[in-house]
Amino acid sequence: MRIIIFGGAGFLGKKLARELLKKGELSVGGHAPRKITRLALFDNVAAVGLPADSRLEMVVGDIRDPARVRSLLEDPADVIFHLAAVVSGEAEKNFDLGMAVNLHATLQLLELCRNLPTRPVLVFASSCAVFGGELSDQIRDNTASMPRSSYGTQKAVADLLISDFSRRGFVDGRCLRLPTITVRPGKPNAATSSFVSSIIREPLQKQRAVCPVAPDTEVWILSPKRVTENFIHAAQLPADALGANRMINLPGITTSVAEMVRVLEAIAGPETTALIDWIPDPFIQSIVLTWPPHFEPTRALELGFHRDESMREIIEAFMEEELD
Ligand SMILES: NC(=O)c1ccc[n+]([C@@H]2O[C@H](COP(=O)([O-])OP(=O)(O)OC[C@H]3O[C@@H](n4cnc5c(N)ncnc54)[C@H](O)[C@@H]3O)[C@@H](O)[C@H]2O)c1
Repeated sequence: MRIIIFGGAGFLGKKLARELLKKGELSVGGHAPRKITRLALFDNVAAVGLPADSRLEMVVGDIRDPARVRSLLEDPADVIFHLAAVVSGEAEKNFDLGMAVNLHATLQLLELCRNLPTRPVLVFASSCAVFGGELSDQIRDNTASMPRSSYGTQKAVADLLISDFSRRGFVDGRCLRLPTITVRPGKPNAATSSFVSSIIREPLQKQRAVCPVAPDTEVWILSPKRVTENFIHAAQLPADALGANRMINLPGITTSVAEMVRVLEAIAGPETTALIDWIPDPFIQSIVLTWPPHFEPTRALELGFHRDESMREIIEAFMEEELD
């Protein structure tokens, strides 16, 4: 079988690619397992740091370019993971770019899939940023999306389109609304949630980090390991298990920045947490503080999606997987 990952050179795209190569087979839509013979990674930058593997197909291109995407889809794919995106901070600062990549290119991808003779499973990386504004204390499975950022709005519209294209039988979509994924390795990125990883990652590597929000700020988080498992689980769920509702609020854990720092200190000592500078940033606060931190992800748990046990487990997994 052939799988395509749009955004395959990104943080989660590469992690997912490694996991799929390791797994070697997939039970797409709950059907009998089949071997993964080809895995195409499409991105506008080259994917580096992946193992040499004859199943990998690296394609550099812009998802906004219909000719490029059409030619990639000419060779049928059983599963498409759509992770390509302009992240939250960038989409807020550059409205046109966010609309073009997060919304118009997603609609174009759906239209191209609609014209295929096959009906691929499409797993979409949506976001909990679809929620915001005046909300009840808990986000439930039937809470309406009321985003307060351009990024959240673009993800919410894409969720609706993928659900309708699924209802019409053009694709078999699964929209996963991701919590903030932490701890992200590498360097800070343009996501407004980037600090949620920085305040753990940098101090553990003896570097200073800035926390732009108050210690009592709560966040809804999930580890890279669990979200990767959840992407794969989404592709393997039978369509019948989802029915008409293709939007899934993934499970996560609620923690506060103060709690994250407390656990980091318990693991690595006060000299590590002393490397965090508390410098408020009104732009980051204006977006992050609209993201609700409390969810009841009943449906996702019933469907077999997983979350981490604790903040300690998340930090220790990062140390084990990413640090010497
Ligand atoms: N990491 C998180 O905390 C988080 C939370 C919620 C949702 N998500 C979503 O998950 C997905 C993956 O996130 P990530 O953290 O790996 O982000 P990332 O920025 O590392 O990866 C996104 C990839 O998309 C690619 N891309 C952007 N514009 C493109 C274009 N025009 N053409 C082709 N490729 C393009 C980028 O080059 C990048 O490699 C995204 O859709 C993101 O919105 C992530």
